[in-house]
Amino acid sequence: MSGHGTPIPMISRRGAPLRGEAHVPGDKSISHRSLILGALTVGETRITGLLDGEDVLDTAAAMRAFGAEVSEKDGVWSVHGVGVGGFAEPETVIDCGNSGTGVRLIMGAMATTAITATFTGDASLRGRPMGRITEPLALFGTRAVGREGGRLPMTLVGAREPVPVRYTVPVPSAQVKSAVLLAGLNAPGETVVIEREATRDHTERMLAGFGAGIATEETPEGRVITLRGQPEFVPQTIVVPRDPSSAAFPVCAALITEGSDVLVPNIGLNPTRAGLFTTLQEMGADLTYENLREEGGEPVADLRARFSPDLKGIEVPPERAASMIDEYPVLSVVAAFAAGTTEMRGVRELRVKESDRIDAMAQGLRAAGVHVDEGEDWWAVEGRGHRNVPGGVTVASRLDHRIAMAFLVMGLATSKPVRVDDAAPIATSFPIFEPLMAGLGASIDREEP
Ligand code: S3P
Repeated sequence: MSGHGTPIPMISRRGAPLRGEAHVPGDKSISHRSLILGALTVGETRITGLLDGEDVLDTAAAMRAFGAEVSEKDGVWSVHGVGVGGFAEPETVIDCGNSGTGVRLIMGAMATTAITATFTGDASLRGRPMGRITEPLALFGTRAVGREGGRLPMTLVGAREPVPVRYTVPVPSAQVKSAVLLAGLNAPGETVVIEREATRDHTERMLAGFGAGIATEETPEGRVITLRGQPEFVPQTIVVPRDPSSAAFPVCAALITEGSDVLVPNIGLNPTRAGLFTTLQEMGADLTYENLREEGGEPVADLRARFSPDLKGIEVPPERAASMIDEYPVLSVVAAFAAGTTEMRGVRELRVKESDRIDAMAQGLRAAGVHVDEGEDWWAVEGRGHRNVPGGVTVASRLDHRIAMAFLVMGLATSKPVRVDDAAPIATSFPIFEPLMAGLGASIDREEP
């Protein structure tokens, strides 16, 4: 659970080129889903490559509270689940720490079982909107009582006699889509979720893998996902691919750090997640996919990123936003080192992440000497070109791991160092960020609080 401990300030400086291999941790989205689906399955699900970041560990603890047995030995996780509809009522409050994905997916998974559970999280999570989840869950018959504005702490009373629903997701959100699908698991008949813009599809793929009857159809209305309720899940052996959202940090660091050549092996390149890499290539990045292959039905490649002195600003197509929603902070850093302006539109969702990511990045970039314009759902970064970003600032990470990592990456190429007031949140998604970056030769150090 992040945000409760002593802050860890860190500073990054321009230094040696980055060289070598960066083995990033397992995918956060797939890790949460592996534990939750394993907990809904009678028998043993075994998981390797699970991200052991705080967000996922909080989900593991929650699954235990709902009655599953979850353990780890030598990097292999074992989940003995309780079956669809088999969640027990937790005796304590479920604390999901910093994780919006954790709390929203778990709310969905318990919403159609006749139990009551109370959820909370850290200061960041307690500020995030939950109405987007409780509104569709109410259609199943679930009741929710939270704080003003639909904030945590919040109690959910699961539907005793759930009915299946048909729901069009009003915002591009895989968390909302997934919560509705997970709730639909314990409703009789067919639950239908419609999304106008495609978001990450790990829930659909994994539900099919566990044996649920699920079909996706592309229609003029959008993607129509139909799930047959009350399946008997079959235990799985899951190998979690490495996280493209974590790979983004060493990749972008290599692109802006002189003389760098970094290989980031085995990265999942599911098209609903790989938007950043396409964008970087359009900006002129020396970024290539090596050894492109299929693993577990997903495209996987080794990413090679080399220093790219001639990056240029581009307009990022808004329809690409969902496939790179977590990568805009670090993209804005790369944009600062490009020639010309990078415009990012259709990104309103960035305002309700672990922090308001447009505001957090814009303020830090401006303090570091970069001009940024912004509106409610767009922002534009005026690049200063390679070697011309001043830096020399302390920025606030706002309990947001990706803000902390983005600014530490920036400091590797600014004229003066960049200090982040609290890098502790990095442990939510990328606990080995510090040693991994040090292994590449990056100058990123802890400072006294
Ligand atoms: C996630 C979905 C995204 C993303 C988050 C992980 C998921 O959030 O930002 O880090 O695993 O479903 P939204 O679905 O709210 O956009």
